[in-house]
Formats: sequence, C-alpha cells, structure tokens
Amino acid sequence: MERGVLLVRAFSVSEGRRGTATVTVNVLDVNEHAPYCVPSVFVLTVPETTERGKSLGTVTCVDMDVSGHDVSLTLRDNDASLYKFRLQDGQLQVNGTLDYDMPGIAGRSFQYEATIIATDSGTSTLTTTIPVMVTVTPVNEFDPVFIGPFEILVPENTRSGSVVTTVKALDGDWRFDALRYSIPGGDALFSINPVGGQLYLKGSLDFEVKQVYRLMVQAVDFDQDVDLTVQRTGAQDFTIRVLNLNDNPPVCDPVSYESTIFSTRSAGLPILTLSCTDRDGDGLTATITNGAAVDRFQMNGLTLSSRNVFSYVPGAVYDRTMFEVTVAVSDGEHTADVVAYIYVVPWTTTVPTTTTTTTTKPPRVVTVVQRFWEPDLWFVAVMTITGAFLLLYTGLLIWRILTWTSVCVNPEPDVSDNLLKNSLNGEDLNKIGNQDAAIQNYQSSLDGTISLSKENSRKSLMRFDGKADDPVSGRSYLFNSETGERRWL
Ligand SMILES: *[C@@H]1O[C@H](CO)[C@@H](O)[C@H](O)[C@H]1NC(C)=O
Repeated sequence: MERGVLLVRAFSVSEGRRGTATVTVNVLDVNEHAPYCVPSVFVLTVPETTERGKSLGTVTCVDMDVSGHDVSLTLRDNDASLYKFRLQDGQLQVNGTLDYDMPGIAGRSFQYEATIIATDSGTSTLTTTIPVMVTVTPVNEFDPVFIGPFEILVPENTRSGSVVTTVKALDGDWRFDALRYSIPGGDALFSINPVGGQLYLKGSLDFEVKQVYRLMVQAVDFDQDVDLTVQRTGAQDFTIRVLNLNDNPPVCDPVSYESTIFSTRSAGLPILTLSCTDRDGDGLTATITNGAAVDRFQMNGLTLSSRNVFSYVPGAVYDRTMFEVTVAVSDGEHTADVVAYIYVVPWTTTVPTTTTTTTTKPPRVVTVVQRFWEPDLWFVAVMTITGAFLLLYTGLLIWRILTWTSVCVNPEPDVSDNLLKNSLNGEDLNKIGNQDAAIQNYQSSLDGTISLSKENSRKSLMRFDGKADDPVSGRSYLFNSETGERRWL
C-alpha cells in the first residue's frame, strides 16, 4: 500500500493570514495485469525416444502488478497427452514416452498438446495460458519379426509357379508392417513377392530326390525413421518339407520268373517270391490276373504258392504241366505286371492230400446211371459176316458195271435191239450173252421205274442214268449224270 502525505497551506490575501493543513492519501493496489510469461508458447519437435525427465524448456512468469504477486504454474493435459509432461520449478519435462507408434497419435499428426496455466495471486486472480505443442518424429525402434509357422509342407506334385505359402512378418514401428520381403542371395527353387510375402515354387519337387529344403527369408522395413536410410531387418529360416505322394509305380526286377515244382507240393508252401520295390515306399499287393492260374496258385504278399489242385491221373484228368501265371503288383495307384512260369512235374505215386474232415455226416450214395448199348457176341459175328458178303457183292457189281461200260462205247445195233426187246419182254437173261446181262443189270439199277416207249427207249436209256427227289418240291426226276439233263416224273 502506498501512502501519500500532503501539506496544504492556505493564504488569506485580505486579512494577511495563513494556515497549514496535513492531508494523508492512501493508494490501494488493484490487480490489473495478468502474469507475463516467457516463452508465451512451446512449439517443439522431439524424437519419439526422448527420455523421461528430459527438459523441454523453462517458463518464466512475472506479475506486472506492483505488489509482486506470486505466479503459480499448472499443467493441463488432454486425452492424448495425459501424463506425458510435467512441470518442475517452471521446467517443462517429459514425463511419459512420447510414442510415435500409436494409432491415436497418428490421428493428431503426431503432436502432443498441453497447456501451462500461469496464475497470479491477486485478489481477483488473472491467468495466462501457454500452449505446449510437441511434435514427435519417428525413430525406427523395432526389428521386423516373422510369425509362424516356419515349417511348410508341400506336396511333391506341386506345380511350378504355385504359391507354396505366404510368409508374414510384423513391425512395431508406425506405419506398421511397412516391409519388403526377400530371399538373401536368391534361391534356385523359390522366389518371394516382396510386397505380399507369397513364396512361389519356381521348379519341381520330388520327394524321392530331396525331402527338406531350408530357406532364409528376410524382411526389411522402410519409412520408419526421420533418416530414411535407417532400416531394420528381420530374418527367419523356413523349413520346407516335401510331402510324399504315390507318384511312382512299383518296379519289379526281374519281371519274369521260372520255377519247377512237383505236383504234390503242399498248398501254401512258397514257390517263389517276387522282387518288387516302390520308390514311394507304398505297401505292395500282388494279384494273379490270368484266370487259369487263379485256381491253381495263390499270392501271399509277394510270395507265390500252389493250391495243390493238380490232377495227373493217367487216362483221366491230366492237367497242363506248364502254367503261365501273370501277377499284377499294385501300390494302390499304379501297377506293374510280372509273369511266372511254373513247370509242374506230375507225381502220382502220392495220392493228393485230401483233408479228411471228421464229421459225423451220414455218407450219401450217389448213383450215376450210364446207358450204353452192348451187343451180344453172336450178333457181332453175324453182322461181320453179312458185312463181308455185302462188300464182296458190291465189289463184284462195280467190276461188272465197269466191264459193261467199256463194251458199251460202240454197241452193235442188233445186239442192242435184241437186248432192249429182251429186257422189255422180260426174257430170260440166260439166253443173252454177258454184255446183254450187263445192260440188263444197269437197267435194273434204274429201279425199273422208267417206262420207255419203244421208239426212244434206247435214246432215253442213254440220256438218264439216275433218279432223285427234288428236295424243294418233293417230286422225283431222272437225270443224266454227265450232261445234267433232267426229266420230271
Ligand atoms: C508422471 O507419470 C507418472 C507415472 O509414470 C504419473 O503418476 C504422474 O501423475 C505423471 N505426472 C504428471 C504431471 O502427469
């Protein structure tokens, strides 16, 4: 409080008097100035890694009012900058991590905002606000880290150009997962899409050649630091296992087998074993494929054995002694064919083993009646003698006809006339010579069915020498066996 003392003297001109008075003036102070602060605003750019406790500057405030009030400072945060700053004796310090890698701060242009409020202590307080604007810059803090699985199973029939898998790495720096993938040094069999991480097969796989591949893939981040050359790399070893598929047929070596057995060889006793392998390691099954051998032989795994059902009974059923057994060896998908030639030596001294089952079944009598004709001995004799006579007679007849034909080439007309007359009249043949008799015989052979007129009888005789029935109409006709001429009857 200021105090002013005034001496006031008064003069009276007319009377020549004067007087003095003392006036005291008390001046009361009024808070009329807000605090004055330096700096009036904080605009800063700091890296996100600025450590806790780091000073961002000091604020100094004075009150212009004479009484020199104290100025108190307070800090007001917003949602994003909560606990991020603190004030210590007018010094603005970092209190929490000014993280760059947060979606929340990315939406605020990576700027943390707060307000320092300076308040004086007058009767009616006045305040001054000091805005704090701290922009953080990115620092590449994190290495890219691959996420599993790191073991990839690829069927061996995967085609070249196929995507085998898609690798994925994560990066904690904002903007998250800004990565480029690569295979350091390249690879002969695999390639990778730098952006998407797709791992491509650029050759062919064969389980039987190589089962496991190891591949290192790296991820390099970008745009994650103020200094663009600061990049971090993450690397990961991948194991690529080739899955076995049944892509190879079984291989049999040799493909042809030969074996000789006795027919009495016990059923199921191995005769030969096929030598077959499968590159895929699949289980092999063997099946006899030709019908004839199926009944005689059997396969037990890759082993061929007999069923012992041969029959070599002399004069009865006599089986073949060589069997060609074709066998299909399968791995479930593919087949290989082999052939076994089995020579069976008949061995009849031993009765083929027949399993005698002791069942109390009553024997069943099966009667088989076979009908056949068995003539008596006398009948055979009679038939033989009759046959012999018949044969003799036929021979004689043929000889007579041949003799007659040779004479008949130039027959004497009178003889023929006579002959004809005789034959027609049915005269005794004895009166006529041998030749006449022959003609008579010949005529008789026509079965006496031909009736000839006297004029053309001789001609007719020469024209037709046989009689037959037409199979279609059933009518009878005469024919000439030389000319083919016919005459219907
Ligand atoms: C500073 O951070 C601590 C936690 O680390 C917190 O308890 C404190 O309130 C913060 N100070 C300010 C002024 O925000």
